[in-house]
Amino acid sequence: MSPTTARPAQAGLYAADLDLPVRLEEALALFLDRRRAAATAIDPAFGAAAGDLCDFVLGGGKRIRPTFAWWGWRGAGGDPEGLEVDAVLRAVAALELIQACALVHDDLMDASATRRGRPTVHVAFARRHAAASWRGRPARFGAAAAILLGDLALVWADDMLRGAGLDADAAARAATPWEAMRTEVLGGQYLDVFVQSTGDSSARAALQIDRYKTAAYTVERPLHLGAAIAGAGPDLVACYRRFGADIGVAFQLRDDLLGVFGDPAVTGKPAGDDLREGKRTLLLALAIERAEQRGSTAAVAEIEEAVGDPELDDTRLDRVRDLLDDLGAVQAVEQRIAALTGSALDALGAGSVAEPAASRLADLAVAATRRHR
Ligand code: IPE
Ligand code: IPE
Ligand code: MG
Ligand code: MG
Repeated sequence: MSPTTARPAQAGLYAADLDLPVRLEEALALFLDRRRAAATAIDPAFGAAAGDLCDFVLGGGKRIRPTFAWWGWRGAGGDPEGLEVDAVLRAVAALELIQACALVHDDLMDASATRRGRPTVHVAFARRHAAASWRGRPARFGAAAAILLGDLALVWADDMLRGAGLDADAAARAATPWEAMRTEVLGGQYLDVFVQSTGDSSARAALQIDRYKTAAYTVERPLHLGAAIAGAGPDLVACYRRFGADIGVAFQLRDDLLGVFGDPAVTGKPAGDDLREGKRTLLLALAIERAEQRGSTAAVAEIEEAVGDPELDDTRLDRVRDLLDDLGAVQAVEQRIAALTGSALDALGAGSVAEPAASRLADLAVAATRRHR
């Protein structure tokens, strides 16, 4: 086949790239099939549990993290027709296993019932326990299974990166962002529950948490990972990290809005859980700040009573939604998302990111912050 027939001219900027979504799924499916078989060899019961984790990974998700990492690699000069493409795809796909660990553990910590439109792992295992009338408490069995399957996802993520087939120099460079990212996300998740417990409702705390629990592992370090694999210099890494920190925080701010106002049928996760769990989001911080500025003690009291109340019903949730809106907190978060997107795009434009990656990253930035799911 001549190069022309292999790659027919297509309209659009990215025609020269491989079918990234399909290739990511292939890489994940191949890796997980082998791991599922290894788990079954230990015991069919463990194989079935590991199979649930595989289904969780393969059954949904927007694949934002590997997509940013891939375009980070391309923007640093990675060649989509080069021999190393398969290894790079495996390395960036490993980010989805970090994501699986983060989500499975997060849903247990946040007591969330649904994820990606299905019961969360701890809920599914608790139901299985209850349906079979096994001994002990279903919720404890569900929690134990979620802890172990989250751990399994984390160690498989490391295995997948290590076994990706990167050359030794690229693998050594990849270790820097990978190692930083793993500790950052755990730090952010700890601070999230810590602040939930202390009740610190400052905007500063909320933004610091968003940087570590989300931006680091969602955009900033995935881009850094791609850049490191390609052997990028410090200027490009700095550009990616500035862009990634801002877009990553904006991504979480959108998530906070979707967590209160989103449609569960579209997001695949419940609405109102952040409030019931007592999450100290920027949305909440700004609402309280504004209510205090207006001297509206009734509004502050109503919000504070709702936050952390597991019994918060739809009627009261609607009241809080109205309050967040009336106080201007929703608009303020929207403005913050727009400002962060603007500063991220400025940082991207000031860097020497190769095309078509620069345009693709700009599109991804907008899509990640204007999404409905
Ligand atoms: C959810 O991430 C967790 C956050 C950091 C807000 P995503 O919105 O990327 O979840 P999936 O992978 O698409 O399900
Ligand atoms: C997002 O946690 C960060 C991680 C999962 C590491 P959240 O608790 O804010 O996200 P959702 O809304 O449950 O996806
Ligand atoms: Mg959560
Ligand atoms: Mg959480």
